[in-house]
Amino acid sequence: MEQKKKTVPDMKARKTAGLKISMLTAYDYPWALLADQGGIDMILVGDSLGMVVLGYKDTISVTMDQMIHHTKAVAGVVKSAVVLGDMPFGSYNVSIEKAIENANRFMKEGRADGIKLEGGKSVAPVVEAIVRAGIPVQGHIGLTPQTASALGGFKVQGKSAEAARALLEDAKSLEAAGCFSIVLEAIPAPIAKIITEKISIPTIGIGAGVHCDGQVLVTHDMVGLFDRFTPKFVKQYVKISATISAAIAEYKADVECGKFPEEKHSFIMNEEELKKMDFSN
Ligand code: KIV
Repeated sequence: MEQKKKTVPDMKARKTAGLKISMLTAYDYPWALLADQGGIDMILVGDSLGMVVLGYKDTISVTMDQMIHHTKAVAGVVKSAVVLGDMPFGSYNVSIEKAIENANRFMKEGRADGIKLEGGKSVAPVVEAIVRAGIPVQGHIGLTPQTASALGGFKVQGKSAEAARALLEDAKSLEAAGCFSIVLEAIPAPIAKIITEKISIPTIGIGAGVHCDGQVLVTHDMVGLFDRFTPKFVKQYVKISATISAAIAEYKADVECGKFPEEKHSFIMNEEELKKMDFSN
C-alpha cells in the first residue's frame, strides 16, 4: 500500500490531538528505509553522523557537503516520514545570508522537508530568516552538542531555577521566531514538562523525560551499534553489534573450512561447453 507522506503541519496537529511524535536519526538508505517502514514520524539526518558513522570524536568537523551527501541518501528512500537535515557547526553562525544559503542546500540538493539547528534566543534571528525563506526549522536547546565545550562538556542543562527559566525563554523565542518544533536535550523532566505546556509547538525530548510531545534517539545508540559510550537517557532495544559480530565470525570460519560457498551460491556451466575448453596448454 502507498504510504502517505507526513508533513510539518501534521506534527503540530499531533500535539493538538495529544498524540506522541516518534523521531529517529538515519544517515543512509538501509536505516532510513527501516525507520520509514516502521512508521517513524520524523527522520533526522543528524550531525551525530560525525560520531556514529564517521567515527569522529565529536560533531564539530562535520561539513555541509557530508550532511548533504547523507541527506540525499535518506530523502531518496523515505516515503512517509518528515525528513530533517541537521545544520552542522559553522553553517549558520557566520551570517544570516550564509545560513539561508546552507538551509537552501538541504532543501534543493538534500531534498529534506526542513532543517534543525542548535541554540536558543541568540539564534532566533537566524531561525526567523530561514523560516521567512520558506524552510521549516526545528530548534534544539538544552545540551547542544555543537557548543558542548562552551557548556563545560556533555552535561545536563537547566538544573538551577535560573538556568531553567533561561531555557523556557529560549523555547519561547524559538517559537516566536517560527520554529515548528523544538528538541529538548538532557534537561530535567519537570522543566521539559513546563516548557511543553507553555509553548504551542511540539517538544521532542532526548533525555528530557516522558512529558515531551515526542521523543528522539540516535538510532545507532538505540540498536547498540555505537561502541564508545551509551548516554543514560538511551534505551538500548537490541545489541545488534553482537549479532553482526557472531555472523562475521561464522562467515570467517565457513570461508576458512570451505563450508561457504555451497553449491546453491555457485554458478554452473553447461557440460558440453566445459568439454570444449582446451586445457592442454
Ligand atoms: O545530531 C543528532 O543526532 C541530534 C539528535 C540527538 C537530536 O541532534
